[in-house]
Amino acid sequence: MCGIVGYVGSKPVIDILLNGLSKLEYRGYDSAGVAVNSEGKIKIYKAEGKLQNLKELLETHKAEILDTTAGIGHIRWATHGLPNTINAHPHTCNCGKLAIVHNGIIENYKELKKDLLAKGCEFKSETDTEVVAHLIANEYGKYNDLPKAVREAAKKLKGAYALCVMHQDEPNILVGTRKNAPLIVALGQGENYLASDSPAIIQYTKRVIYLDDDQFAVLTPSSVLITDIEGRQIDRKEEILPWEPVAMSKLGYKHFMLKEIHEQPDVIRNVLSGKLPDINKPIVLDEVKLTKDEIKNLKRIEIIACGTSLHAAMVAKYILEAFTNIPVDVEASSEYIYRKTVTDANTLVIGISQSGETSDTITAIRQAKSVGSHVLIITNRPDSIMAREAHSLIPVNAGIEVSVAATKSFNAQLIALYLFAMYIAEIKESFDLEKIKDLKHEMLLLPQKIETILSHKEDIMKCARAFASYKNFIYIARGINYPTALEGALKLKEISYINATGYPAGELKHGPIAMLDETMPVLAILMPGSIVYEKVLSNAEEAKARNAKMIALTSAHDAHLNDVFEYILRVPSVDEYLSPVITSVPLQLLAYYIAEFLGKDVDQPRNLAKSVTVE
Ligand code: AGP
Repeated sequence: MCGIVGYVGSKPVIDILLNGLSKLEYRGYDSAGVAVNSEGKIKIYKAEGKLQNLKELLETHKAEILDTTAGIGHIRWATHGLPNTINAHPHTCNCGKLAIVHNGIIENYKELKKDLLAKGCEFKSETDTEVVAHLIANEYGKYNDLPKAVREAAKKLKGAYALCVMHQDEPNILVGTRKNAPLIVALGQGENYLASDSPAIIQYTKRVIYLDDDQFAVLTPSSVLITDIEGRQIDRKEEILPWEPVAMSKLGYKHFMLKEIHEQPDVIRNVLSGKLPDINKPIVLDEVKLTKDEIKNLKRIEIIACGTSLHAAMVAKYILEAFTNIPVDVEASSEYIYRKTVTDANTLVIGISQSGETSDTITAIRQAKSVGSHVLIITNRPDSIMAREAHSLIPVNAGIEVSVAATKSFNAQLIALYLFAMYIAEIKESFDLEKIKDLKHEMLLLPQKIETILSHKEDIMKCARAFASYKNFIYIARGINYPTALEGALKLKEISYINATGYPAGELKHGPIAMLDETMPVLAILMPGSIVYEKVLSNAEEAKARNAKMIALTSAHDAHLNDVFEYILRVPSVDEYLSPVITSVPLQLLAYYIAEFLGKDVDQPRNLAKSVTVE
């Protein structure tokens, strides 16, 4: 979603802002803008669409902005008002002396706007952010002090915000604050930065301070002051970012998505390393802070997540229930937060999130914490808000995921969840320990099996070419691969915009079968193991009888498959419990190649954002 970069120092400000914004592009946006304090004036430049448009605009104004020491930049993902230049950030006030960028949503902006209109403020945009600009300008009129004006204005704001503000009359100061939206202060030598996410600044410095809600940062080139809302100084320790700048490179791949799909074998090795030292020894999960007795007393597990992380949670339900005998509920965070939380101290609540910044999941875990549940977070961002809220934290260390479509984070989450389920099963002795040993052995082989899929992509590419022109798709599976079907369908719709829906195969004849004809391809996941293989095959035959074009994703070498399916995508054989890790990979590739053939913007699909930081 939206991204913020702010800079005070002596380097070329525009370069730093544009470079920082380009590192946040992956989050998804529809317009961009910068404001600089140059030659004693606030100058604002904004453009609709990609950052390139803003770069071209700035190129034509080069001469006006040579002498600049401070600036703020923003990429906007539209919430209030169209994604056009007027609504793009930065926004300003009547006098044009102040500039502000904002991530989040101001919930009470309508009431505030009414008051400000009565005071003579003139609004140019449809945004909630412009209200904040006028509000701070009004306070500035009273105090002539930017930090104080921002603090006073913040007292009137409701909602979620990360704000970065500058004023013409205080040219070497930036003020930042946040509430329910991330903002970090990054520390340099004779320069300081504000950013909504670390990729924006990591190439300049790894020294950061994570602002907490209702904290205010006042930056000059040589100092950083953190205060509370009353202006009282707060001592905050700096931390070192756990990332390397190289992680943002495509390393020769055409898209980040393709690169990230190919990283999965190493990502899995990474998650396993240290936690599965020897198949004859118990899983090591020091990150889990529950005692053995607390684990034995767990009555229920709830898992909350969104999107791809929700699909990982759905796989985990099968595993956790099978291995631990503990009932597991899985719910979309956005639903969890709008009903009564009946969670209690004997319920473990697991939040899964690649970004650790998804607004609905943050709210959900806070609700669970407030009723006394232990909260375990599984995230790819140990520096995120969710990680900071966790009682227990399992970081999945997949490396930064740039493509909006999640791939490697899904499998990293799955491995973390398998380890967790085995860890509990070993403590409770609730599952055949010999079988767990076999599964541990199989887990160690997963990277190799994915490598086999990645080195034989021709069938997937052929299938993608054949189906790229279809407008609709159905994915079916049963059991533990039903979530994989949902995930495959989500990948396809996200990046190709083809309408794809995942169904439990058994549900087909309860309605969706009515849609089947030669225009509706059906992809069936058939992994041998329990009885579901035969069942999915029967459901596929029913679809075939309605003239649907049929694709199989399977490890089976059953001759009968050739009678039912036009395309067979083969994967190495694997224990059914672990199969989603394997079946997810060809589905990611199929979606990727279809989107590629269609010429879509694979890494930054329209309307989507990498971190969904608004409800
Ligand atoms: C996945 O491809 C999506 N872009 C999206 O569904 C994502 O998984 C969802 O927004 C949840 O994000 P999180 O894992 O960062 O919480």
